Amino acid sequence: MLSQETINIIKSTVPVLEQHGKTITTVFYKNMFEKHPELLNIFNHANQSQGRQQTALANTVYAAAANIDNLAAIIPAVVQIAHKHKSLGIKEEHYPIVGYHLLGAIKEVLGDAATPEIIAAWGEAYGVIADAFIGIEKDMYDQAEQAEGGWKTFKDFTIADKVVESDVITSFYLKPVDGQKLPAYKPGQYISIRLNIPGEEYTLNRQYSLSQAATGDVYRISVKREDEFNPNGKVSVFLHNGMAIGDTIEVSVPAGDFYLDTDSNNPVTLISGGVGITPMMSMYETIANTTPERPVSFLHSARTRKHQAFDEVLRNMNDKLANSTYKVLYSEEGDGFINREFLASNVLDGSDIYVCGPSAFMQAVIKELYALGMPEEKIHFEFFGPAEQLELTHA
Ligand SMILES: Cc1cc2nc3c(=O)[nH]c(=O)nc-3n(C[C@H](O)[C@H](O)[C@H](O)COP(=O)(O)OP(=O)(O)OC[C@H]3O[C@@H](n4cnc5c(N)ncnc54)[C@H](O)[C@@H]3O)c2cc1C
Ligand code: HEM
Repeated sequence: MLSQETINIIKSTVPVLEQHGKTITTVFYKNMFEKHPELLNIFNHANQSQGRQQTALANTVYAAAANIDNLAAIIPAVVQIAHKHKSLGIKEEHYPIVGYHLLGAIKEVLGDAATPEIIAAWGEAYGVIADAFIGIEKDMYDQAEQAEGGWKTFKDFTIADKVVESDVITSFYLKPVDGQKLPAYKPGQYISIRLNIPGEEYTLNRQYSLSQAATGDVYRISVKREDEFNPNGKVSVFLHNGMAIGDTIEVSVPAGDFYLDTDSNNPVTLISGGVGITPMMSMYETIANTTPERPVSFLHSARTRKHQAFDEVLRNMNDKLANSTYKVLYSEEGDGFINREFLASNVLDGSDIYVCGPSAFMQAVIKELYALGMPEEKIHFEFFGPAEQLELTHA
């Protein structure tokens, strides 16, 4: 337990941290990677260079500090991050390294303002926060290992099939090299993959949603080739152009807290943009296989027909389901974007709503859902990168 004095110090320094939060985490990463370059095998360098990871960590530290006497309030955020940590094989031993460099960075940036009392209070608070993560992650690792066919961090898989789904999206069917049965996953969850790419100094890790209902013997991911911006996306382009059937990839156990509640029969609305369709595929197929009467509205936005994956499969599934509708808007073919009016007439009453797509798409869609009076607890979403804060105004 932290003393009241420590809590007071933490709470009174939150505004200072908020002011310097990003500088502190930037200094923290720089110093940590200098001392522990092996950690560059775990962190996503593209997120680093764009500052996205710095912002995510800073946000969490403020939230944790502001709630230090009531950590229960941030448990949902901790669970979401713990899923990401689990998929990357983050270990208990890593926490003191992060703690040491985070405290060092606070000292370095705040200078004299960081009195020994302040540093000691933050040291204690970090310990409490780290313990919360470590405890939740330990339970997750134990569960992953105990599941039938389960394993702890990464395991070798081969590419059993590679299927072009659209001009930009290709599916990879992954089977474990050891031939074991695969643990089930919840529809909407993702895996991390770990790759050694020729010419790259460090291993690269990326997350990909499982894009079909669990089968027990294969994991399917569907990857968009990110070659529109400079520099090209490293992993997605290598998967498309450099990896073939029979090649090996390391794969994590399934993770993530963005998943369909399969215990409920409540109506569901799935709203995706672009490659954000992948977790929805798993959810929709699970509904089709297990609760075909469940009301579902699938709303998708793609740039053009050529960009879109799975259209035919979805139309066929939709035709067979009694209470399903499936609608696609092609933004570059004159259909426009998913807007308030479209949502008002296509989101099912009282439904659980799942949203996934590019950041700007999610911001726009979720804002409109709020404007339509949809309750926050019904809206679930997944960012295909470090979680971002939604810049929403409740209308
Ligand atoms: C939970 C989750 C699920 C996901 N599911 C899927 C999925 O189902 N399908 C899918 O396709 N993707 C998915 N993603 C995204 C995926 O993990 C990768 O982020 C994506 O494939 C891009 O990785 P990359 O290595 O190709 O690109 P990266 O090399 O990571 O680059 C990403 C972008 O950053 C830019 N960039 C890189 N370096 C710099 C720099 N120095 N300065 C400025 N810009 C830079 C690049 O131009 C590129 O546009 C998911 C992500 C998450 C977190
Ligand atoms: C209490 C301490 C920690 C906090 C508050 C924290 C916070 C976060 C947050 C907010 C994210 C982003 C989650 C998302 O993607 O949405 C994240 C991701 C991540 N964390 Fe942590 N973390 C902590 C400890 C650690 C430790 C000890 C390690 C291992 C060295 C680690 C490694 C990572 C990695 C590799 C990612 C993914 C980053 C990426 O995509 O580049 N974290 N963490």
